[in-house]
Amino acid sequence: MREYSIAAIPADGIGPEVIAAGATVLAALSKRDGGLKFNIENFDWGSDYYKKHGVMMPADGLSRLKKFDAIYFGAVGAPDVPDHITLWGLRLPICQGFDQYANVRPTKILPGITSPLRHCEPGDLDWVIVRENSEGEYSGHGGRAHRGLPEEVGTEVAIFTRVGVTRIMRYAFRLAQSRPRKFLTVVTKSNAQRHGMVMWDEIAAEVAGEFPDVTWDKMLVDAMTVRMTLNPRSLDTIVATNLHADILSDLAGALAGSLGVAPTGNIDPERRFPSMFEPIHGSAFDIAGKGIANPVATFWTAAQMLDHLGEAEASARLMRAVERVTGAGILTPDVGGTATTRDVTEAVVDAIHSSNV
Ligand code: IPM
Ligand code: MG
Repeated sequence: MREYSIAAIPADGIGPEVIAAGATVLAALSKRDGGLKFNIENFDWGSDYYKKHGVMMPADGLSRLKKFDAIYFGAVGAPDVPDHITLWGLRLPICQGFDQYANVRPTKILPGITSPLRHCEPGDLDWVIVRENSEGEYSGHGGRAHRGLPEEVGTEVAIFTRVGVTRIMRYAFRLAQSRPRKFLTVVTKSNAQRHGMVMWDEIAAEVAGEFPDVTWDKMLVDAMTVRMTLNPRSLDTIVATNLHADILSDLAGALAGSLGVAPTGNIDPERRFPSMFEPIHGSAFDIAGKGIANPVATFWTAAQMLDHLGEAEASARLMRAVERVTGAGILTPDVGGTATTRDVTEAVVDAIHSSNV
């Protein structure tokens, strides 16, 4: 029996609805396979917990999560709790505390979902964006002085380290190598930012030497937005800094037809700690409790989790099931359909059990 322990943190808004749907499809995969088992433990951390206890998670939160094989995360953010508290109180401490330095964001146009790009169909846009997830523009370095005075200053310092850049570059080259096209695009802004970004370019060239079978090219981030929009077929695997990839991954989601189906993995490639898998969409309080949240991003990120756990076959089966369901037009309202969370979930479960998926 291949048994995995999963810590589920559904948290806020539609988080609990989509994570429950995710647990249902994981159970279906395990029933279909027989040799595969998931032990899911739920943690009630998040904004409601904050309102009761004054913290988003208990002080020993990380040590309680550490023993799990993976973390399955819903969404954080509540209308009546400031965003910096929800974000810096739960999700970021997990990413940083567990050194999940590779943020991996696959994007493709799922069958049944229409891209806003003319003539762009499933298969024409199939990317993975690798976002540096531990430093860069999100290092938290900087400060404010002379507050409120005319001479007030604010600094926001981006930190790039040789260790940080080399490890994300290696991860991205290895990922590119594992995909059929073996092609990586390295994004920077090294024309204007001539220190850290030039170091990125240099380290990319060094690491490229370790991967002679991977073809690679370089793009400046502004020109990259144009290439993504006008020539999506020319891209495959993409690596960029924390902020650049944050922006590019929103564009990628929009070009693929919906941010609502986009997943993300926060990965510790060295496997010292559990990695964390989550839908990119937020807590969406406007539709919470209505039963119409789109569970596809949460299914897709479960497929990422299965891949990370070494269950490639179950992962591929789950994605085939999801694509069959979206292709059949069983879609929630955010992607133009009339189905409920439950309709989509049941259809994916049925597809998992059908013999040709
Ligand atoms: C994302 C989000 C977050 C980020 C926000 C909520 C801080 O936009 O996961 O892309 O920028 O990391
Ligand atoms: Mg973002």
